Amino acid sequence: MKLSALLVTSLATSVFASYTPVKVDCPDSPLLRQPKGLQENEAAYISSRQNKTKPALGAFLKQQNIGDFDVDSFLSKASPKIALAAAGGGLRATLMGIGTFQALDNRTENSTLAGYLQAADYMSGLSGGSWLVGFLAINDFPDLETLFSAFDNIFNLPGSMGTVGMLAKVFIDSLQKLKAGYQTSVTDQWGRLIYLLLGNAGLLKTDINWSDIRNLTSFTSHEMPFPIILGTSVFPGTSFDAQYITYNNSVMEMTPYEFGTWDKNIRNFIDIHYLGTELENGKPVGQCTTNYDNAGLLMGISSNVFNTGLDALGVDGIFGILVEDLMKLLEIINDSSYRLGVVSPNPFYKQDDLPSNQTISRGLMVCDGGFDLETIPILPFLQPEREVDVVISMDPSLDTPEGWPNGECIRHTAAKSAWEFGEGVFPQIPDNATFLSDNLTTKPVFFGCNITNLKTFDNSDRYSPVIVYVPMYNISYVSNFSTGKLIYTKEESFGTVNNAYNMMTRTNLTQDEDWGKCLGCVSILRELQRLNETIPGDCQKCFSNYCYN
Ligand SMILES: *[C@@H]1O[C@H](CO)[C@@H](O)[C@H](O)[C@H]1NC(C)=O
Ligand SMILES: *[C@@H]1O[C@H](CO)[C@@H](O)[C@H](O)[C@H]1NC(C)=O
Ligand SMILES: *[C@@H]1O[C@H](CO)[C@@H](O)[C@H](O)[C@H]1NC(C)=O
Ligand SMILES: *[C@@H]1O[C@H](CO)[C@@H](O)[C@H](O)[C@H]1NC(C)=O
Ligand SMILES: *[C@@H]1O[C@H](CO)[C@@H](O)[C@H](O)[C@H]1NC(C)=O
Ligand SMILES: *[C@@H]1O[C@H](CO)[C@@H](O)[C@H](O)[C@H]1NC(C)=O
Ligand SMILES: *[C@@H]1O[C@H](CO)[C@@H](O)[C@H](O)[C@H]1NC(C)=O
Ligand SMILES: *[C@@H]1O[C@H](CO)[C@@H](O)[C@H](O)[C@H]1NC(C)=O
Ligand SMILES: *[C@@H]1O[C@H](CO)[C@@H](O)[C@H](O)[C@H]1NC(C)=O
Ligand SMILES: *[C@@H]1O[C@H](CO)[C@@H](O)[C@H](O)[C@H]1NC(C)=O
Ligand SMILES: *[C@@H]1O[C@H](CO)[C@@H](O)[C@H](O)[C@H]1NC(C)=O
Ligand SMILES: *[C@@H]1O[C@H](CO)[C@@H](O)[C@H](O)[C@H]1NC(C)=O
Repeated sequence: MKLSALLVTSLATSVFASYTPVKVDCPDSPLLRQPKGLQENEAAYISSRQNKTKPALGAFLKQQNIGDFDVDSFLSKASPKIALAAAGGGLRATLMGIGTFQALDNRTENSTLAGYLQAADYMSGLSGGSWLVGFLAINDFPDLETLFSAFDNIFNLPGSMGTVGMLAKVFIDSLQKLKAGYQTSVTDQWGRLIYLLLGNAGLLKTDINWSDIRNLTSFTSHEMPFPIILGTSVFPGTSFDAQYITYNNSVMEMTPYEFGTWDKNIRNFIDIHYLGTELENGKPVGQCTTNYDNAGLLMGISSNVFNTGLDALGVDGIFGILVEDLMKLLEIINDSSYRLGVVSPNPFYKQDDLPSNQTISRGLMVCDGGFDLETIPILPFLQPEREVDVVISMDPSLDTPEGWPNGECIRHTAAKSAWEFGEGVFPQIPDNATFLSDNLTTKPVFFGCNITNLKTFDNSDRYSPVIVYVPMYNISYVSNFSTGKLIYTKEESFGTVNNAYNMMTRTNLTQDEDWGKCLGCVSILRELQRLNETIPGDCQKCFSNYCYN
């Protein structure tokens, strides 16, 4: 089957979509922000969300029966903030993330940790995890069973739309964007393809912009944790090869309000609704652009590991062949230097006062959120402005020769934190050998409970959040499939999700009946510390079990 021939015959029948950016008049307010604090709409969202998460956390805590602890009196003076971080690692990571979130969702039948998802203020995702967080957000926060069925069907090509029609649409949409004067990259087509595949699998009724999340019911009613997905920015004249990516490469956040980074070398955000606007030194040149922030494009940027070496990743089956063929074809459309994601025009172009040389290029290059090796998206929650107290994270990495985690990604987060906030702010993570010999890879572990040896950033009263690290382990299924594996049998996808579910729930509390209590305890720890309150005895017992340091 030769794709190009099929494409030509199907061009006539395909439908045009609203992928093309649209010019509009610029708003009166500035498009860029150099943050002194949280973006005001995010701050307002979290404040309203706390009105939901505090009662939800209260209910969760009461269910856990923590001895000598008065939940209502505590919550009347404390406001714990909880974040969930969905890591990268291809579809394996998406599935592990689904299992983790499912274990915490009160819509999951019989879940032993039900309601914790409802108590979470934030959720972040990168690469495979951006598919989870992104599709949860743009689908108005469906339950995880619904999301899982869609992912389970995603790669059963062809679907109702037909493979050829879908690829033709990807092709035409890119051409339209180019014709409108916007540089495209392979990431445009990759993101578009993932997006259409999921649409085809029953999710998504319409093309959605990332900023449209603001108008979804579960967002306006603050029912969903505030979503953030991440990409890694690349310096002009370098590439995405690991040797070029250091802690200086700014991590780009994409929230429903903003695109940009806290990184000290750029520390700038653009209103994401106007992403794609041509700016010079922060001022729009001519009209503004909207509809650039296509959700598929942004998730594509976060997950563009697939643009860079399908063979190395072990992409298999018909999908591998299709994508490889498609990519070759698309080299014609894209300038061949654009294997990376490109946000063009670059919102930070010619900004005089920024130390980063990323202000010299017309297009801002962004690659997979995991290319900085911080595979769990914890960084957004280390920003003191967000005041996050605890981050729940599943690590689906394939670090060891046998393909299981050894803590590598959080060691990179620790190093990034040292670069950004100084040494000693992030809890110490042991080296790989110690990590394995201390058995931190078979059950959940808490990093940073004890603040005695921790510093705060800028002498604030906020310590780094406690990291609840849940490793992928063969608790009920050998789920360490390769990152490139995109076709799962029902047994494999269910096994992988269920394995994460069991890791997160300690196999429905059968491995530790106090695990729910311990999850509750770790969620209130930072606020107890800030208030100088005695740690309840039940919690002390939990901490001696689960705290590494
Ligand atoms: C939170 O709830 C309180 C009490 O119901 C209300 O007074 C307050 O306005 C709410 N805050 C937000 C930001 O919605
Ligand atoms: C889940 O929690 C939310 C918020 O606390 C609540 O509104 C909803 O009714 C709960 N749903 C179920 C199925 O318990
Ligand atoms: C939930 O528990 C009930 C009662 O034990 C059981 O009948 C039902 O099958 C369970 N549902 C699931 C999805 O496990
Ligand atoms: C744990 O409970 C869930 C929900 O009831 C169920 O689907 C799952 O099979 C249980 N796991 C084990 C190992 O029994
Ligand atoms: C979203 O809601 C705001 C406020 O209600 C409205 O001004 C805006 O046009 C809406 N945007 C879309 C894309 O519907
Ligand atoms: C931009 O800065 C990076 C990091 O310092 C450097 O590696 C790269 O060569 C620079 N690019 C240009 C075009 O100066
Ligand atoms: C990275 O940043 C540090 C501190 O800002 C600086 O000293 C170093 O030269 C930078 N390295 C590169 C490759 O840009
Ligand atoms: C996406 O944004 C464009 C431009 O603002 C708008 O025309 C389009 O309706 C938006 N899409 C949706 C689904 O709201
Ligand atoms: C541990 O890390 C060191 C240094 O990065 C590396 O050389 C070694 O191969 C790693 N060992 C294991 C078991 O992963
Ligand atoms: C490591 O943890 C596993 C699972 O909890 C347990 O079976 C094993 O005995 C532990 N090994 C050590 C050395 O503590
Ligand atoms: C916290 O760490 C300090 C210094 O290492 C130690 O003295 C103290 O006992 C620790 N506290 C707890 C509760 O483990
Ligand atoms: C907690 O104790 C510290 C040190 O003793 C003190 O500086 C701080 O003000 C106390 N905080 C509260 C809320 O009492």
